[in-house]
Amino acid sequence: MSDILGYAGKRVMITGCFSGMGEAAAKLLIDLGAEVHGMDYKQSALPLASFTQVDLRDPASIEAGVAAVGGKIDALFNCAGLPNGTFDPLDVMKVNFIGLRHLTEAVLPMMGEGGAIANIASTGGLGWSRRIPTNMEFVTIKDWEAAVDWCEANKDTVMEGYAFSKENVIVWTQFMGAHLIKKGIRINCTLPSPTQTPMMADFHKISGKDVVDAAAEPLGRYSTPYEQAAPLVWLNSDFATIVNGVVLPVDGGFMGGIPTGQIDLSRMMRRAAD
Ligand SMILES: NC(=O)c1ccc[n+]([C@@H]2O[C@H](COP(=O)([O-])OP(=O)(O)OC[C@H]3O[C@@H](n4cnc5c(N)ncnc54)[C@H](O)[C@@H]3O)[C@@H](O)[C@H]2O)c1
Repeated sequence: MSDILGYAGKRVMITGCFSGMGEAAAKLLIDLGAEVHGMDYKQSALPLASFTQVDLRDPASIEAGVAAVGGKIDALFNCAGLPNGTFDPLDVMKVNFIGLRHLTEAVLPMMGEGGAIANIASTGGLGWSRRIPTNMEFVTIKDWEAAVDWCEANKDTVMEGYAFSKENVIVWTQFMGAHLIKKGIRINCTLPSPTQTPMMADFHKISGKDVVDAAAEPLGRYSTPYEQAAPLVWLNSDFATIVNGVVLPVDGGFMGGIPTGQIDLSRMMRRAAD
């Protein structure tokens, strides 16, 4: 059986194709026969059907980028992201959530029944279930400027931007899943555990290698970009036609280890605070 994932001839769009998981997913999609339209603020060297320079911090850049690709889009992969610490928290919020949402909303009219969206969140957003009302208040703000204003007015909640942005990807994905399925479109997100990508240097610098290593348990190693790309490709494929609104840990068992007492989260937090 060939083309079992159903990507041959499909038009897909992917953000963050310059490096890491996005680059790995773009390569995989090219190999699977998809017409891959890549976006990033850094030029990609991959043999894409098209590359458009898009800065996710800028709504006009997003709108122009999506319009430049045009036509029908079968699947969207939101892989771009910024880490915490090095970047301005508002930029982190824009790239990781506000821009991701803006781009997705621009792409949705180009999707028909059978369309699928895969977002990358993070185990770093696992606090989402503790503050759903706040996340819901934020993710249901319609407009770009109003979302930015909310962040400016709620700096104590936004903090360094990373955890809160990822919580919002998680909550928004679940919220949108219930709406988009009525149009035959699916949306899901993944929670990667520590992965060996260029972003890892920032995570080590900000959180400390000890804390990052602890989040790589019980697997005992970092995942590869390919190990993160393959589940994203599966989520948006014909093999997952009723998988929707799902928050999928891709973490070698980390999330499962928390409720079953195999992962000591409070010890991790104490290490982070030291
Ligand atoms: N690496 C990890 O351990 C890890 C763990 C959990 C979640 N994640 C998430 O995985 C996703 C992919 O990250 P990665 O680890 O592959 O890192 P990466 O740095 O290799 O990839 C991030 C990509 O986003 C692009 N990008 C950054 N700012 C942008 C902007 N303003 N406009 C357009 N593109 C922009 C970068 O150029 C790059 O191609 C991110 O959302 C990240 O938060 C990473």
